[in-house]
Amino acid sequence: MGLVEGKVCLVTGGASNPGLGHAIAHKLASEGASVIVTDVDGEGAERTAAEINAQGGQAQAWAQDVTDEALWDETISRIRAEYGKLDALINNAGIAVLKTLPELTLADYNRQLLVNMTSVFLGTQKAVALMRETGVKGSIINMSSVAALVGVPACSAYAAAKGGVIGFTKTVASETAAEGIRCNTIHPGLIDTNMQRQSSVDNPEEYVKLNDAVPMGYMGPPHSIADAALFLVSDLSTYMTGAQMVIDGGLINQ
Ligand SMILES: NC(=O)c1ccc[n+]([C@@H]2O[C@H](COP(=O)([O-])OP(=O)(O)OC[C@H]3O[C@@H](n4cnc5c(N)ncnc54)[C@H](O)[C@@H]3O)[C@@H](O)[C@H]2O)c1
Repeated sequence: MGLVEGKVCLVTGGASNPGLGHAIAHKLASEGASVIVTDVDGEGAERTAAEINAQGGQAQAWAQDVTDEALWDETISRIRAEYGKLDALINNAGIAVLKTLPELTLADYNRQLLVNMTSVFLGTQKAVALMRETGVKGSIINMSSVAALVGVPACSAYAAAKGGVIGFTKTVASETAAEGIRCNTIHPGLIDTNMQRQSSVDNPEEYVKLNDAVPMGYMGPPHSIADAALFLVSDLSTYMTGAQMVIDGGLINQ
């Protein structure tokens, strides 16, 4: 029996491969969950679900822009109708626009807050409502970053959003703890996904430098974050809420 057998889990931003949502969706499905994968890239999300189903797991996918409140309502209604419950929401979808302070426009700033932070509010509010309605002691995982905990050049707006996710998560955790609904953040360091590869596409040497910057000597594999998500969704972590899990190969332990 898998660690999350019978649990219904929604993973946002699950199209990108290699990507954290992709890895989390695979991991949860391999441990017995029914997984719903969404992404603004609907075809990519379908590909992830098809891979999972081909490996004997249970997944379906649809397009969802996490900044759109009406699409959140549709997503949660569809999960209620098709599964009758939601055990876990992994608010993973995100973007990084790396610009130093003088380069950053108001539009860049607002976009990062919208995709990385406001989306987390929308998803969490609606998922918690369904969990309460159905009496599920669910788990919400909000993807933050080590950039919310230490200063990283060119990340000010990204860090503002990811830092906002911490305070939001802790507050929700305090509002839902008595019902057994848990809300935690994960703080990845440098993880080898399309997001990291994209950020160094114009500067391949940067990719090598990123690996060298990690005390363990390499960027984290996506499964390192998926393993943490599995733990937070599973009943191994039922006493854990409002917590921050840093997974970074020692990056900020310097
Ligand atoms: N990779 C890292 O090193 C790292 C470090 C810290 C935090 N994170 C966070 O982890 C999460 C996943 O990152 P990743 O590295 O897998 O990135 P990625 O770029 O590889 O994947 C992100 C996915 O989110 C989707 N997405 C973007 N905007 C969306 C929207 N509006 N609606 C729905 N989907 C949308 C993209 O289509 C993509 O599939 C992000 O929140 C990111 O900020 C990543």
